[in-house]
Amino acid sequence: MMKKRIVIKLSGSVFGETANKKSLMKYAKMLKSIGRKMQIVVVAGGGYIARYYINLARELGVDEASLDELGIEVSRLNAQLFVYALGDAAYPHIPTNLHEIVVALETGKIVVAGGLHPGQSTNATSAQIDEKINANTFINATDVVGIYNADPNKYKNAKLFRSIGIRELQNMIVHESTMAGAYDLMDIVALKVIERSKLTTRVVKSDPSVIKRAAYGHNVGTIIIT
Ligand code: UTP
Repeated sequence: MMKKRIVIKLSGSVFGETANKKSLMKYAKMLKSIGRKMQIVVVAGGGYIARYYINLARELGVDEASLDELGIEVSRLNAQLFVYALGDAAYPHIPTNLHEIVVALETGKIVVAGGLHPGQSTNATSAQIDEKINANTFINATDVVGIYNADPNKYKNAKLFRSIGIRELQNMIVHESTMAGAYDLMDIVALKVIERSKLTTRVVKSDPSVIKRAAYGHNVGTIIIT
């Protein structure tokens, strides 16, 4: 029987300045455990390091498309680091397009990708991968517990949604920035893909035990209703 497929986006903060051997190995162990039951594509975010590079290059007068490409390169570096943490369980090459991801999955290994196309976030990339491989389950692990009605890092009274309609979420993010490095929780490309293919999408806290529960369908974080 074909294994269930799942796409898990890991925020760039997993690989960033606070990462260490212990934290990376915890994520790797959890994914290897899920990997016995499911075929996993992990998508690495760019995080702080991507934003740092993008901001420096922007000051140098670099155009937005090239800044997106810089962000993609950093997310791929993070992906490569995570391949080392996964060892033999991972497919060794970082795919650069959707077709390569399909081929990589045929090996049965955990596939780790970074960004793919300029003009979007790794969340959009994750949704596109999910659509392409018919995974239907997209877990977006972030540095917050789920989707709030305001940024919980700025507003301490922000309210957490256990579920939210896709249209409501689209209306919420429509006013957000679309500059390189500034795509927040979900960008419009991600939401459009989630909507058109009715992907079961959950935004959860980036904690190995929470991600594992989400992968097994438990009601954690915020589910997006399509
Ligand atoms: P991320 O999507 O990782 O942004 O890619 P982020 O906001 O840092 O996400 P977290 O915090 O790690 O979860 C970094 C930048 O790389 C470019 C965009 O400019 C994005 O903001 N990028 C990434 C693309 O243009 N296309 C992609 O497919 C991925």
